[in-house]
Amino acid sequence: MNITNDKVTEYLEGLYRPWSPDLLKLREIAEQHHVPIILRDSETLILNIIRMKKPVRILEIGTAIGYSAICFAHAAPGAEIVTLERSEKMYQYAHTNIEKFGLSHRIQMKRGDALESLKDLRNTINDTESEGFDLVFLDAAKSYYRKFWDACIPLCRKEAVILSDNVLLHARTAADEFITERRQKTSVRQMREFLDHITNLDYAETAVLAVGDGIAVSVLKDGYQRKL
Ligand SMILES: C[S@@+](CC[C@H](N)C(=O)[O-])C[C@H]1O[C@@H](n2cnc3c(N)ncnc32)[C@H](O)[C@@H]1O
Repeated sequence: MNITNDKVTEYLEGLYRPWSPDLLKLREIAEQHHVPIILRDSETLILNIIRMKKPVRILEIGTAIGYSAICFAHAAPGAEIVTLERSEKMYQYAHTNIEKFGLSHRIQMKRGDALESLKDLRNTINDTESEGFDLVFLDAAKSYYRKFWDACIPLCRKEAVILSDNVLLHARTAADEFITERRQKTSVRQMREFLDHITNLDYAETAVLAVGDGIAVSVLKDGYQRKL
């Protein structure tokens, strides 16, 4: 289910302009094979946030076939991107795609569970201000967002931007009436707890936007590390 009126979604999708024919082709392949990549309107918003922020190091949790990481590399031409993926199959697809786009030197892939990779990253970063991330994109298992968030914060530079995708879970986060299966209840509860948490932090400001499937845009305040 779309979180906004279907006609509005259709209209906005008509305004979508892909970066290049090759990226559009990759998007279409993902869509045909039901690989859950960023939605078109989310992509447009996220890439403009990246253009405004001009990050030097981007961290992505959830690579899938590498589509969003490749988009990020285009929107931030000088940035280094680290992207985490646990599925061997997705990792291999992403590896091939990133190579095809000639971006292997800028996109570093790490295979394995993101929480483990985040622990490893924490051990390799000596100085957060010079080696940390200034933009983080959360786009893996939705019920782990709180854990991903907590593991990412120590890797972030001051005033880093954290984007959490799909936070409205097809509107289910907003209202129980959209829950269609019992098993969705736990993930909805966890997502509500996550949003409650990140919207009440004293070290970050968060706006939850009804774009795509819902995106939370958080900005860490200067000096946040002292408060943790
Ligand atoms: C929504 S897709 C990512 C889409 C990608 N960001 C894009 O827009 O092109 C989520 C991916 O996260 C991966 N994933 C889920 N849980 C994970 C975890 N705990 N650690 C690492 N990757 C995970 C899944 O295998 C899947 O490929």
